[in-house]
Amino acid sequence: MPERIYNFSPGPATLPYEVLVQAAKDIVNYQDRGIGLIEMSHRSKDFIAITDEAEELLRELLNIPANYKVLFLQGGASTQFAMIPMNLLGPGKSAAYLNTGVWAKKAIKEAKLFGRIDVPYSSEATIYNRVPTPAEYEVEAEAEYLYLVSNNTIYGTQFPSFPDKDKMLVCDMSSDILSRPLDVSRFGLIFAGAQKNMGPAGACVVIIRNDLLDRTPENVPTMFRYKTHADNGSMFNTPPCFAIHVIGLVLKWLKKLGGLNAIEKLNREKAALLYQAIDASDFYRGHAEVASRSCMNITFNLPTPELESQFIKEATKLGLDGLKGHRSVGGCRASIYNAFPREGVVKLTEFMREFERRQG
Ligand SMILES: Cc1ncc(COP(=O)(O)O)c(C=O)c1O
Repeated sequence: MPERIYNFSPGPATLPYEVLVQAAKDIVNYQDRGIGLIEMSHRSKDFIAITDEAEELLRELLNIPANYKVLFLQGGASTQFAMIPMNLLGPGKSAAYLNTGVWAKKAIKEAKLFGRIDVPYSSEATIYNRVPTPAEYEVEAEAEYLYLVSNNTIYGTQFPSFPDKDKMLVCDMSSDILSRPLDVSRFGLIFAGAQKNMGPAGACVVIIRNDLLDRTPENVPTMFRYKTHADNGSMFNTPPCFAIHVIGLVLKWLKKLGGLNAIEKLNREKAALLYQAIDASDFYRGHAEVASRSCMNITFNLPTPELESQFIKEATKLGLDGLKGHRSVGGCRASIYNAFPREGVVKLTEFMREFERRQG
């Protein structure tokens, strides 16, 4: 393996090195067929097998019930902000949205184009430093669904468990899908952009319960109807072929590693190392409330913006890259998705201690 930097980027993000090597080889010559993966027809037997295998692996790892479809769509996670209400709402219908960050707020804005949207909880006033417990909000009876973002990438908050409300859940899992075991049957729809825990940018995975496919109002255009993609095995038009292939490779890697129980344990250990470093010091201050802390994105501040800039600059020189916080909150953010190596986390905690000794 060549020398690699530790990439703390929030997405696109670190992928397993063995997946990168395999994907690079496949781009040039897929399984010695004399044709590159990204030159192959999406209707070819080989590519259909690639898609089928990626779907099967996802079904196996997430234990997806048979009455759900798995779709590989384009347009990023952001297109889902509109597609969800477009398909699941209609005149006179409403939904409830938890406003736990900018990605939730953007979804709320789009949903308001299609129905009445109730926001029973918001942590905007405290710069989205927490997610609610179910006791902190009520979902109105007429809401078609309760929408939430399981992991708030920018702020480093994550729902420790999913709301036990008597309401169909719709969830943006872009930044924590496949990071922990999940009971899919509690959700009507789950979606996630691939570029954090699953592969490169370009594909958005949608898991949707079959009965929802027939709810779409008549006037929704063909490409924006979930049923179009479900009826055509994600091949109504040309799908994001390369992204789907790499998702398949990542899922194979994850299965080999032991699946979701194994990765959850590793993720918890990695995050604990960083939170211990933060909690052991008065120099570093975590942004998220302790009960809302994310295992994927660890956000923290130093005493001044100047020290934060210097910290990030020095870290980058040591090969600890991508630690700058999102422009809307500042500070630092270490994104440590599934494929991020533990050694990189250890190296960051060592640097944090050393920096504090010098500057604290
Ligand atoms: C939780 C969450 N949802 C949605 C998005 C938007 O994803 P995309 O850029 O694929 O539209 C992001 C991007 O970082 C995200 O973190």
